[in-house]
Amino acid sequence: MRRKIIAGNWKMNTILAEATDLAKAISSGVNPEKSTVIFFPPFPFLQNVREVIANASNFSIGAQNLSSKEGGAYTGEVSAKMLTSIDMEYVLVGHSERREYFNEGDNILFEKLNQSFENGLKPIFCCGEPLGERSSGNHVQYVGDQIRNVLFLLTPQQLNSTIIAYEPIWAIGTGQTASPEQAQEMHLLIRDVLKEKFEPEMVESISILYGGSVNAGNALSIFGQKDVDGGLVGGASLKVNDFLDIIKAMESIG
Ligand code: PGA
Repeated sequence: MRRKIIAGNWKMNTILAEATDLAKAISSGVNPEKSTVIFFPPFPFLQNVREVIANASNFSIGAQNLSSKEGGAYTGEVSAKMLTSIDMEYVLVGHSERREYFNEGDNILFEKLNQSFENGLKPIFCCGEPLGERSSGNHVQYVGDQIRNVLFLLTPQQLNSTIIAYEPIWAIGTGQTASPEQAQEMHLLIRDVLKEKFEPEMVESISILYGGSVNAGNALSIFGQKDVDGGLVGGASLKVNDFLDIIKAMESIG
């Protein structure tokens, strides 16, 4: 059975009091039993949010980014080792905003994955096509290559501790979500691509999350798809009631 995961990517939003209030309201508003809920707050609030959820079972926390370097003279960077020293469990790698605005390509993302594994962090590796690739019908090739170019370089053991998030860029923050069928098609594709290289049985155990305008209204139909194991939620993760409804939608699925 694959682990169900609902992740909230807060991006560059909230100040300290808002971050702790948000974490408090959500972790006291629901008792997830079948899924793990992961908060991704901004770096400065990681410790504070971790303290808020310390006694909330099935809540966890991670960082939105990490350095590809081990340590040293890299002003402004945050290493994997720093993150594990404050008990972070997860980290996002390759979010489309990092790829697009900070020029993170396959090589850097591979180095970031390696830093995660060496320091015991579980990465959520994000992939997904821009609108142009979807409109021209090249999305299958595009996402397949994102997977091949980076994840094929991992050992089976490393892949086994990786979570994947499929996030079509045209659906992120746009209110235009992929249909449940489109999400299912791409999740199945990602699994099939991984099976070109890795043991099918192991690939079947990997959680693949959908991201891109998930909200309280569409969560149930997307999460109900066979190969969708949860969501990476941006905008709606900042709204207490919406995020609670999204978690409840996941919990209601058998
Ligand atoms: P969104 O963002 O839910 O606001 O579309 C998703 C993401 O970027 O992870």
